[in-house]
Amino acid sequence: MPPAPSPYPTLALARHPLVHHKLTLLRDRHTSTKIFKELVDEIALLLAYEATGDLPLEPAPVETPLEPTVGYRVSGKKLTLVPILRAGLGMVDGVLRLVPGARVGHVGLYRDHDTLEPVDYYFRVPGDVAERDFFVLDPMLATGGSATSAVSSLKRAGARRIRLLCIVAAPAGVERLARAHPDVRVFAAALDRELNAQGYILPGLGDAGDRLFGTR
Ligand code: PRP
Ligand code: URA
Repeated sequence: MPPAPSPYPTLALARHPLVHHKLTLLRDRHTSTKIFKELVDEIALLLAYEATGDLPLEPAPVETPLEPTVGYRVSGKKLTLVPILRAGLGMVDGVLRLVPGARVGHVGLYRDHDTLEPVDYYFRVPGDVAERDFFVLDPMLATGGSATSAVSSLKRAGARRIRLLCIVAAPAGVERLARAHPDVRVFAAALDRELNAQGYILPGLGDAGDRLFGTR
């Protein structure tokens, strides 16, 4: 039974069976920190495969051992990955295996436990911002406050082309990000049902940062 199609124009949901198999293991409360980390890494690679599916190509002359021919190479802008600290860090290596030439910036945000609003503590990205495509990485899109703030910071720095790769999205987060930044496409493994009173995604996978780094 394939997952339901995305009900949002800004949200693309992964369709690959391996993503959904791995996501179920990730949700499992009994999954160890070691396996959790490996699964986040593998799902990030598969999401990056989807998010890079429309990269433009240009002809590229090449000499095989037998004769010259013309192949293709990816043209267009240079890619920068921007993990939202902490949990986004778990997605960096998976995406880099697919796009090894990408640079990595960092946005530091945490969610205030009472207000659920993001608190900004770090921002550093490569200098030639206008020349770059950005993939913001964060496993969880819950209220959408963190992703919206990260995208706003990138745009203030001059970024124009930004996508978000997340593993689990909640309707509230997709809607908030789309209201603030309708140009930002979201690539997610799953769209979950709702948020609980503490702002956790249901059914979700719990606290992604704590499960990745074993800090619970
Ligand atoms: C988590 C998660 C997102 C944010 C999502 O981070 O990694 O960044 O919450 O929630 P939102 O959509 O409601 O903003 P958290 O604030 O727990 O920080 P951490 O990664 O350092 O644990
Ligand atoms: N952050 C998480 O890590 N998990 C959630 O469910 C919501 C926000």
